Amino acid sequence: MLDGRRILLVISGGIAAYKSLDLIRRLRERGASVRCVLTPGGAQFVTPLSVAALSGEKVYQDLFSLTDEAEMGHIRLSREADLIVVAPASADLMAKMAAGLADDLASTLLLAADIPVLVAPAMNTQMWRHPATQDNLATLERRGVRRIGPAAGDLACGEVGEGRMAEVLDILATIETVFGDGPLKGIRALVTSGPTFEPIDPVRFIGNRSSGKQGHAVAAALARLGADVTLVSGPVAQPDPKGVKVIRVETAREMLGACIAALPVAVAVCAAAVADWTVSNATKEKRKKDPGSPPPTIELALNPDILATLSEQGSARPRLVIGFAAETETVIDNARGKLARKGCDWILANDVSPATGTFGGDFNTVHLVTTGDTEPWPRIAKADVAERLAWRIVDALKETPR
Ligand code: C5P
Repeated sequence: MLDGRRILLVISGGIAAYKSLDLIRRLRERGASVRCVLTPGGAQFVTPLSVAALSGEKVYQDLFSLTDEAEMGHIRLSREADLIVVAPASADLMAKMAAGLADDLASTLLLAADIPVLVAPAMNTQMWRHPATQDNLATLERRGVRRIGPAAGDLACGEVGEGRMAEVLDILATIETVFGDGPLKGIRALVTSGPTFEPIDPVRFIGNRSSGKQGHAVAAALARLGADVTLVSGPVAQPDPKGVKVIRVETAREMLGACIAALPVAVAVCAAAVADWTVSNATKEKRKKDPGSPPPTIELALNPDILATLSEQGSARPRLVIGFAAETETVIDNARGKLARKGCDWILANDVSPATGTFGGDFNTVHLVTTGDTEPWPRIAKADVAERLAWRIVDALKETPR
């Protein structure tokens, strides 16, 4: 329920604006009050009259309206709300938000806002996929703006693909999670992310190209749904996800230790690219380059497998243990083998061949491999893989006994 919650709904230009009328109605049914701002683009799709009738309040449209400013200054509009929902969020408005522009009422109040903001993007697939839009989105998410959707399907422009505004019921569920009533409230989760660094000497190490983007996105998505998340991360350049406890480690052994210390948890997602080997003859002092001698030999020893260890915890085993399998060939077969060998419940298998741009990139193409099934997911942003996974975890935990 959203009793007494004050929502400021910004309706920007897009055919999906008609769904916002239903959103207003359902928000009010749940006890929220809804004040609306209609951008000039939004007003091409829904009329101020229908918005006013459904919200039961005056609709705000102009930045420099004498009457509006006398009755309610544009800054007060966001001060007197608990949450701003931008639905539909057009590519243009998201670009303005990312750039910090304030040339109309919607962008100005968003720039002046000090309350949570949720965007529900809706646009043509190419516009959604354009690096400009994706960069803007990444900027907004880094600043803590939350997002729901878009979904894939038939678009009003006649094309099929990602870009439809999320369904109203999903937007409502997300709004409820913003107010702390997420479906994973009370659930403890552990996520590993990034590479591990295995020292050769105090200066050099063996590492890998993992950026930590996917693991950090999973931690952020679980936290958004209300989970109490511990993120154990190797050395990465990613910012700490909001509302997540981050433990920084370097080696695989340190990562394992931090994971065991974080138990008990209901769900563990191992997204880290853990080094398979550690250097068993690492030296305390920096190895010297001696022109007269052959290069030194680095001896390797197998690292502990964190995913397998978490899967073997007996009564302390998380109810759901999930791994990622980064492969460059026969992706599904290898993932299936790993699922069996490591004793985990799900593997998200992804192709990391250089041509895919997965390592370090923002997109990922995964297959969800479970004991009985292989489900291909489309190529989507890593944040979307995370969001989708988080909702799958919600469903699975409902079915898994405590
Ligand atoms: O064996 P491979 O590294 O391909 O397996 C990938 C999965 O196993 C990932 O989920 C990764 O986080 C996990 N893993 C681990 N500890 C290791 C090696 C891999 O947790 N030592």
